[in-house]
Amino acid sequence: MEGLVEKNPFVVIRNPIVEEDLKRIHEAIDARRSFDGAILVVTGCAGFLGFYLTQYFVRYAQELGVRKVIGLDNYLLEKPAWLQELANDFASVLELHSFDISRDSLNGIGEARNARYVIHAASIASPTFYRQYPLETIDANIWGLRRLLDFYQGNGALKGFLFFSSSEIYGDPAPGFIPTNEEYRGNVSCVGARACYDESKRFGETLCAVFAKTYGMPVTIARPFNNYGPGMRKGDNRLPADLAAAIVAGRDIILLSDGSPTRTYCYVADAVIGYIQCLLYGHFDYFNIGTDQPEISVRALADLYCAAGKEILGYSGEVRLAQSSDPDYLTDNPNRRCPDIRKARAQLGFVPEVGVEEGVRRHLEFLRHAQRS
Ligand SMILES: NC(=O)c1ccc[n+]([C@@H]2O[C@H](COP(=O)([O-])OP(=O)(O)OC[C@H]3O[C@@H](n4cnc5c(N)ncnc54)[C@H](O)[C@@H]3O)[C@@H](O)[C@H]2O)c1
Repeated sequence: MEGLVEKNPFVVIRNPIVEEDLKRIHEAIDARRSFDGAILVVTGCAGFLGFYLTQYFVRYAQELGVRKVIGLDNYLLEKPAWLQELANDFASVLELHSFDISRDSLNGIGEARNARYVIHAASIASPTFYRQYPLETIDANIWGLRRLLDFYQGNGALKGFLFFSSSEIYGDPAPGFIPTNEEYRGNVSCVGARACYDESKRFGETLCAVFAKTYGMPVTIARPFNNYGPGMRKGDNRLPADLAAAIVAGRDIILLSDGSPTRTYCYVADAVIGYIQCLLYGHFDYFNIGTDQPEISVRALADLYCAAGKEILGYSGEVRLAQSSDPDYLTDNPNRRCPDIRKARAQLGFVPEVGVEEGVRRHLEFLRHAQRS
């Protein structure tokens, strides 16, 4: 897919919903001093979270004093048009490289060595695709991470290194461990259908802990819990992306389960504030980043999208249940997932504000504007 710039009508920049979100992120992050003159490296800059992270640092570069954002991505699933557009519009700030973090050399990336902040977000996050690319997923989270840590070890310019782990490191928590706090050790299969992701995130965390302890590196781990919103690709196959795609296409929503597993869903702009707080934290620790309420069923989320779709996009479909033809579709899928976020609240000041009804509406409003542009 490399070199192919695919226009995805689901993911566009210059959208009023994203403008508002970026402004809110900026107001929440009082960081002019931290970023003044800084170079940032963002791996996985073309992904869903990259859509917000890359845009925020590039479009607010002037206000923040950011000198350069170096975006690295191997465009495993697609090279998005929004990213190329951003690079064209902000050529003096954003430097993009088609780069595989698990094998390409950072020595070839001129100013990467001078980075003050590094965000390692490269790793396919959608279960459909990490099961299709299991070795690539392991490589990004283990060898890619190791290469980054080796490259920056001993570098005094580095002030923050953020590793994106996952709520999946907890697996399917036993009932007494929900909401799940950071000290829960997990209930994870090391050979199951999702192991390439779950276990590589777990070992990635071990690498972070060892490098931080051995070399005093400022590594912080974020464990994201189910983010959703603008920036999810149409074909991403994570639930909120599928729901939005069905609504935009005017198709019925087909849930490939009985709709009973429960989750909390964190609007992307809230989560991104938490990730930047982790990045600025500047020493080793690990944080759940998500929202702790409400914990709702997959079916309830589908109903929310359906109702908001009717109002915002004139949708007339309905929610139906079916079975996936993929026998592993639900294997090791957690029954309940809800974070305890008291640690991030207390140590980072992280406070998610967008309720799930409002977040779903923002996602669909974003798509309404995107369809018009
Ligand atoms: N979004 C969530 O709700 C969520 C939940 C848990 C964990 N995470 C983690 O956060 C990070 C970002 O998530 P996302 O939702 O943006 O994922 P995504 O799948 O949308 O994007 C990941 C990006 O990483 C790139 N990539 C993959 N392997 C690479 C490699 N070897 N070298 C360079 N680039 C590579 C892909 O091309 C893609 O652009 C990932 O590490 C993910 O595991 C996200």
